[in-house]
Amino acid sequence: MKTELTLQDKQFTLLRFPKRSNEILQAWDAGDEYIINHVSEMGLSSGKNILILNDNFGALSCWFAQDHQVTMMSDSFISHKGALKNLQRNQCAKIQFLTCLDDIPQGIDLVLMQIPKSNRLLTWQLSKLRSSLPENCPVIAVNKAKEIHTSTLNLFEKHLGTTTTSLAWKKHRLVFSTPNCQSILAVPAECEWPVDGEDIILSNYANVYSGENLDLGARFMLQHLPVDEELRHIIDLGCGNGILSIKAGQLNPQARITSIDESFMAVASAKKNLERNLGTERNIQVIANNCLDGMKDNSTYLVLCNPPFHQNNTITDHIAWQMFCDAKDALNHSGKLLVVGNRHLEYQIKLSRLFGKEHVTVIAENDKFVILEAIKNNDLTKPNHKDIY
Ligand SMILES: C[S@@+](CC[C@H](N)C(=O)[O-])C[C@H]1O[C@@H](n2cnc3c(N)ncnc32)[C@H](O)[C@@H]1O
Repeated sequence: MKTELTLQDKQFTLLRFPKRSNEILQAWDAGDEYIINHVSEMGLSSGKNILILNDNFGALSCWFAQDHQVTMMSDSFISHKGALKNLQRNQCAKIQFLTCLDDIPQGIDLVLMQIPKSNRLLTWQLSKLRSSLPENCPVIAVNKAKEIHTSTLNLFEKHLGTTTTSLAWKKHRLVFSTPNCQSILAVPAECEWPVDGEDIILSNYANVYSGENLDLGARFMLQHLPVDEELRHIIDLGCGNGILSIKAGQLNPQARITSIDESFMAVASAKKNLERNLGTERNIQVIANNCLDGMKDNSTYLVLCNPPFHQNNTITDHIAWQMFCDAKDALNHSGKLLVVGNRHLEYQIKLSRLFGKEHVTVIAENDKFVILEAIKNNDLTKPNHKDIY
């Protein structure tokens, strides 16, 4: 796997985050290279204020930090961490890190953007750019050509302004836009709805997973969450809008709850939703983190997990594996990990490898999903090889 990005007259060593010894995925893509080549040909004078949106692992930030003041805005804790590590690795100048809930800074000269997977996040970002940027500030976005549809370009036209595209290069296309559309359309920050059949109302910022309706896996999991008076602490790993934390908290009013997600918008939504649905008196922690990094071993009784199966635009099951390994470390002896997943993902194989086949049970299944319970047995001395799955 390539870790050296050599373009024009510069070279950077770039790794994904977290660093894995058997990594097969590169930390940048042809879209990053297309933007770098294009901006180099523009002959931009140095010292500009460049806003970079959705930089995956900091390739663009590293590149432009050499000659410009860079602000990186991303909803991903992992992208923030990855970019920081790559900036340090390459002794780049410091940049400013913002989340997508922060305001767009004043005085931006150029915006570069990796087009996000979620159209809701794209719409939110475009409308924020339109209301904050001067009309002459160029916005250059990139994505795989097959992901740029007429509907994508219509979003740029509607929420930002005049939009054109480049020819495709290495299967990627650039989108050039100008913040000049006449009416600035208000885009609501959150989408709110009640959960059918539950006493729960959820509010969702733009990049929250399944932010417009309940995920079907989560819906299935709601019917199978445990009730246990002895349960003192529950972790919801990859909490999204906090739906599983809330239901588990309603069923187990004595339990302390820790909800974790790598999306800052998910964390903000979950915090709001837990307080609204469980009350402000409950012992609740909602944290942005990469899985359970830094969490104490043998410290919890129950981990709930509806794992992700992609990272940005890449389909991968390595995060699910990391979540299972971390959950095993964090659980007390006899503590339980409850996982919901699409049947075809076959999480049972991974869980059996980690927890031992005899400690993994199918709790429920339907046509699409399976709920698995893995019980930690401290007598079983199976090592966690986080990189080998
Ligand atoms: C399938 S969604 C489940 C969301 C919610 N629990 C539900 O059931 O609707 C998976 C969640 O994991 C989060 N996630 C992805 N990678 C993560 C990581 N490395 N650490 C923590 N959370 C992560 C995603 O942002 C997403 O919210």
